[in-house]
Amino acid sequence: MTAPDHDVIDTPPRAPSPVHKFGTLAVHAGSPHDPVTGAVIESISLSTTFAQTEVGKPVGAYEYTRSSNPNRDNFEKALAALESARYALAFSSGSATTATILQSLASGSHVISVSDVYGGTHRYFTKVAKAHGVSVTFSPSIEIDVATLIKPATKLIWIETPSNPTLSLVDIRAVARIAHDHGILVVVDNTFLSPYIQQPLLHGADIVVHSVTKYINGHSDVLMGVAAFNSPDLHERLSFLQNAIGAVPGAFDCWLAHRGLKTLHLRAREASKNATMVATALEQSPHVIAVNYPGLASHHQRSVAIKQHRSGLGGGMLSFRVRGGQAAAERFCRETRIFTLAESLGGVESLVEVPGAMTHAGIPKDQREAAGVFDDLVRVSCGVEDGEDLVADVLVALERTVNPK
Ligand SMILES: Cc1ncc(COP(=O)(O)O)c(C=O)c1O
Repeated sequence: MTAPDHDVIDTPPRAPSPVHKFGTLAVHAGSPHDPVTGAVIESISLSTTFAQTEVGKPVGAYEYTRSSNPNRDNFEKALAALESARYALAFSSGSATTATILQSLASGSHVISVSDVYGGTHRYFTKVAKAHGVSVTFSPSIEIDVATLIKPATKLIWIETPSNPTLSLVDIRAVARIAHDHGILVVVDNTFLSPYIQQPLLHGADIVVHSVTKYINGHSDVLMGVAAFNSPDLHERLSFLQNAIGAVPGAFDCWLAHRGLKTLHLRAREASKNATMVATALEQSPHVIAVNYPGLASHHQRSVAIKQHRSGLGGGMLSFRVRGGQAAAERFCRETRIFTLAESLGGVESLVEVPGAMTHAGIPKDQREAAGVFDDLVRVSCGVEDGEDLVADVLVALERTVNPK
């Protein structure tokens, strides 16, 4: 009897293919079986350095972990497949991703951005980009006025759709058409929906970015960011900066985020279903002034959601204005029992927060309110608990908010 040959384990190719659908790619893209042990789940490659047989001749594909690492490579391959991109590059946070893209612009460049971007993106644009000579113009209605805001120095248009926290949408194709006529790149922050619901590159964007910290990892235990794109030129510029700046995620975080990504389609569907139930209940409550949720027929840009989102899904995020001002918004967040009062979003557990006093407190009040971020606005991240329990929790908290004991 011959001993089994452990060196020759059949490892079917795991490369993503356009013939595979999202769930299959999520589970298999960037997930090779280990060619030596056959392990189905990749091991965590903690070594910071990799042996060379001669100067300049590493044993395998790796030299030093900042430049590349097996876990980061596999995560990047998986994410590229899910965003229908040729390339993806991972960074130590969503904010580091933004910073690296902005640093790829020459001094003197101009950027146009939607007004209601994530507070940290706004902070980077207004307080950091300026220091290396990049100016940013904000627009509350970018589809309408993008053409008039373009200058000879404009190099980038930054879109967040849906926006944080007002859930406004941008028609990516409409903006990209004008941008591309002027040779300008379009970046879309897709954090709020995840690639399961929206794939911006398919709607004309040049770069899609994520705070992986949110839906892609999905378990509130990793801080990470990613950018995905198709252009070899962008790959050369951004991978150079990824290594040169060094804001890269560690191997364990890449492994965790890759594990999270494998169930993205299941979580995104469930969170969308729950958010639709919660938004519908809030819309019917006499204690609520208005609900922002792109999955509702009443959303003022519902037609964009139908065009741009998978099956018109609204995602897991919504916000609403509660009667009674900031005090009522804060009381509501203290009264929920399943929803935890906390920043962040996109995890399996449901969260609530008051953006005017928390995530967006750094933006001056007049600018905040012009973008719809009033003091009575509550932002809700629906997790994957049972929808009926979430609805009951919200309705009881609203009653306690208006009729405190
Ligand atoms: C839409 C959006 N983009 C970017 C970021 C920044 O990501 P990170 O916290 O991973 O730096 C966040 C964080 O909340 C976000 O909500």
